[in-house]
Amino acid sequence: MEALASSFSSFQFTTIPTRVPRIQLDKPMLNHLPSSNQRLSNSSLSSIHKNKAEFRLFTATSSSSTVSTEFADPTEEQVEIDSQGEKFDWYAQWYPVMPVCDLDKRVPHAKKVMGLDVVVWWDRNESAWKVFDDMCPHRLAPLSEGRIDQWGRLQCVYHGWCFNGSGDCKFIPQAPPDGPPVHTFKKACVAAYPSTVQNDIVWFWPNSDPQYKDILSKNKPPYIPELDDPSYTRLMGNREIPYGYADIKSTTFLVFFVFKQNLCTASDSSLMFVMRFLEPSSNVPQRRFLLIFICIPVSPGNSRLIWTFPRNVGVWIDRVVPRWMFHVGQNLILDSDLYLLHLEERKIMDIGPSNWQKACFVPTKSDALVVSFRRWLNKYAGGQVDWGTKFSGALPPTPPREQLLDRYWSHVVNCRSCNVAYKGLNVLEVVLQVMSIASIGVVAAAKQNMLSAAARNTLIFFAVLSFVASRWLAHFVYKNFRYHDYNHALR
Ligand code: FES
Repeated sequence: MEALASSFSSFQFTTIPTRVPRIQLDKPMLNHLPSSNQRLSNSSLSSIHKNKAEFRLFTATSSSSTVSTEFADPTEEQVEIDSQGEKFDWYAQWYPVMPVCDLDKRVPHAKKVMGLDVVVWWDRNESAWKVFDDMCPHRLAPLSEGRIDQWGRLQCVYHGWCFNGSGDCKFIPQAPPDGPPVHTFKKACVAAYPSTVQNDIVWFWPNSDPQYKDILSKNKPPYIPELDDPSYTRLMGNREIPYGYADIKSTTFLVFFVFKQNLCTASDSSLMFVMRFLEPSSNVPQRRFLLIFICIPVSPGNSRLIWTFPRNVGVWIDRVVPRWMFHVGQNLILDSDLYLLHLEERKIMDIGPSNWQKACFVPTKSDALVVSFRRWLNKYAGGQVDWGTKFSGALPPTPPREQLLDRYWSHVVNCRSCNVAYKGLNVLEVVLQVMSIASIGVVAAAKQNMLSAAARNTLIFFAVLSFVASRWLAHFVYKNFRYHDYNHALR
């Protein structure tokens, strides 16, 4: 991904400073940020910056960068730890869970966000995606292993308890009809998180306390106008990444979102960094291309990335090229940084996340975004995600390289397009092998004068061709849907 970033770097920053840019980290205030009822244009985004809103919205242009205005000695200590008690509340924000295009309405889906195990399911009675605690109140079986019953309720398959879209238990098979209505007891309910769909992504609020039941009426997830603009393409992808939230953002650029900060009131939520690249022209660009990466904390050492590259040119390409073909190249870009960042995160944990700026030498403007984020993280979040009581924050052990760079479990099973392609190409591989064997069989079984020499040669050629094609296809499927070892030295 760094390679992709560097290909744009000349447009972002035209001068190379000799000292590290110092980015102002203000106390985040969020009420100027775009939400679904505040659809902002480019110009309005710029005006936000000009208005010096309390949290900066970064706009990078080719001619000048508004990211930095002040420079400091790179060896200067820049760790900022806020001691005033203003802390980022990680559990009072909207979090994206998954793109809708990769969710199947017929089944419940197990997902993890902020260390919480949740089940995402389609409630056809309310025509809405629901996000529940993935734990049955009966004996704690995962509801994500359940099913949607014939009445559209979420059913735990262990003993059959059924829940409606509000988390209320509606049926306990073992409860006698003439007995007490135990299904109405509060303890029979599942914790239902506030949830919504915005920009074709399911979002949830990771607090099921009743006080947040109507949080959506006061506080909406960040809004990206281009994703709802029909003149733009908006194919999405998602992948589970084996390094943390802080490191995943070190690789993002241009348009960059991190959901954060609700320091004042519940209505001030879901702040994001936004960095926009504008064409080197004073006119409003007619042709636009955005890179959007949404980074989601999953658990210590694990994140989820949702990406989309909306553009208003060549829209027809996305209509004829299947999504999985784009994902082949996009996953390769992710792979190129994956192993490096996994190990880098461990080094940062060894030195202590709040010492990041002491340990790293970041003298150029290309590091400005990362530096600003690290400062913010130190100042308002103690340098790392608050995992509550569930995790200590310690990183899991490094798995074998094949597991780290695995594509199947991290992406293919969670991507409907790649999943269909994977199954289809596997079937095609078997068909080619069968055709190869059948052709040889026909040649072997045919009596001497039953087949002409030309027909015999054609069948043999066809058999060899089918076999070679099946082997090539097996290699293609393995490299693009299973495991691709990215070796920088040999590329
Ligand atoms: S554990 Fe879910 S119904 Fe028993």
